[in-house]
Amino acid sequence: MNHHAEILDHASDWWRTAVIYQIYPRSFADASGDGIGDLRGITDNLSSLEVLGVDAIWLSPFYTSPQRDAGYDVADFKDVDPLFGTLADFDDMVTEAHRRGLRVIIDIVPNHTSDQHQWFQEALAAGPGSAARDRYMFREGTGPDGSTPPNNWQSVFGGPAWTRLNNNDGTPGQWFLHLFDSSQPDLDWTNESVLEGFDDVLRFWLDRDVDGFRVDVAHGLIKADGLPDFLIDETVGSMGGEDDDAPMAPYWAQEGVHDVWRRWRRVLDEYQGSRILAAEAWVYPLSKMAKWVRPDEMHQAFNFAYLETDWHAADLRTIITDSIREFAAVGAPSTWVLSNHDVVRHATRLSLGFDNPQGHGIGPKTPDLPEPAAALRRARAATLMMLALPGSSYIYQGEELGLPEAIDIPDESREDPTWFRTGGTRYGRDGCRVPLPWRADAQAYGFSTMGKSWIPQPDEWKGLARDTQAGDPTSTLSLYKNALARRREYATATATLEWDASTPAGVLSFTVGPIRVLANIDGDPIPLPAGEVLASSTPVSDTLPADTTVWILAEGVR
Ligand code: NOJ
Repeated sequence: MNHHAEILDHASDWWRTAVIYQIYPRSFADASGDGIGDLRGITDNLSSLEVLGVDAIWLSPFYTSPQRDAGYDVADFKDVDPLFGTLADFDDMVTEAHRRGLRVIIDIVPNHTSDQHQWFQEALAAGPGSAARDRYMFREGTGPDGSTPPNNWQSVFGGPAWTRLNNNDGTPGQWFLHLFDSSQPDLDWTNESVLEGFDDVLRFWLDRDVDGFRVDVAHGLIKADGLPDFLIDETVGSMGGEDDDAPMAPYWAQEGVHDVWRRWRRVLDEYQGSRILAAEAWVYPLSKMAKWVRPDEMHQAFNFAYLETDWHAADLRTIITDSIREFAAVGAPSTWVLSNHDVVRHATRLSLGFDNPQGHGIGPKTPDLPEPAAALRRARAATLMMLALPGSSYIYQGEELGLPEAIDIPDESREDPTWFRTGGTRYGRDGCRVPLPWRADAQAYGFSTMGKSWIPQPDEWKGLARDTQAGDPTSTLSLYKNALARRREYATATATLEWDASTPAGVLSFTVGPIRVLANIDGDPIPLPAGEVLASSTPVSDTLPADTTVWILAEGVR
């Protein structure tokens, strides 16, 4: 039994310190050659993640789906879409991941289904007042002829959150709610058959030995009684708001969601080993977010407040302190994340000099984009600081290669429903979803066995290919690998973070166990203290300039 496999057997609290690598299946690796990544592509390349040194992988959806929202529109929660392979391919992937000491977390999407799901098809056929319609949020319209939607809610992807159906005889009928695309009808989570259906989905995948679930839109399942009007404030982001004072929409963060998570926790606890639930919940402030990870609810929640913090020393210090305190108050570890498939990659985002609400994206017509090398330098400093923080961290595929947001995507290649629902006024999220470059000299940079890619890869990515970086000790890939090895070696994830009493303006300095972390965010250059430099986001000699992080080993430890 190798070292990792031993940990898999015994470490029941693995998730408290885990580094979890997000795989976006359609863009990781394509074994079938159709230009879209798949499960066999993942299995074939798990060795690269074992070498990188992560503890677990999380897969975005690979379920049966018409792919109107890249698989977050699920038509069958208990099967694999042929695009990605088969259930047998899934089982092989899990077996291989476990053999390599990697846990496997999968996405579950409970807020809505695809309109192609059997439940929605039954609801359409059964008509108003039926039990089948009760699984969803069907309502009559308002106004004399019912032609006005039931309320004024807006879809997260733009446009109204309601769509009207025609009755079977062709006359206009009821409206249904969809917080996302019109092909993603919202379920009614007060309906017992919905609750039971999802218990069954959880057990289906737990029986296939998954280690947990990342729960999509975990703040959205329950809507306020009476569905009161509410208009999104565009400046605070439609997934939930970035401002502590901004009112929460009546479809986010309702008390009733917690009963659902308690029920799910009981299902997970029926199983051996430590299986986890991780909440995708855009909830502020952190004291409220922490409710998702109370002892009888979920295990982890994504720390989007951290992700959304600008590159300013004082703000970062505050969010780090608050995160550790608020999650500790309910006995949970904090998590940390800088990138995922819904946000502009942090190798670009942290250097944008303007507001860009989550989901809006950037593209060819966006003015004043940052200079890539300087933006990458900052991203590396941000990552090296994040990986030192106690708790669990998430890495999004490609950030270990320093991939920036892809900007020059032709309009006709875009797939994000946001782009279509806003008539092209928001670029959406395609720029962070472009297939990975594996080999500099191969077609599609080795992403696909047939040299294809579902969306074009930028020419500059040749220089960022994994094979080129693997042999270069100064590469971003080597930086991640080194940081993950040191993190494990010095057990920083279980250490208590202590801030240094005095640091110059613009610099953050703290210790985690035997490691002192110095991050010059936006300050003047400072002298580099004595001690062995264990990791450095860019090479340093005597001074530490802005946009640079180092880890220094305390005297006498070696
Ligand atoms: C959050 C997912 O991360 C995002 O990609 C998706 O579009 C929405 N939820 C809707 O499922």
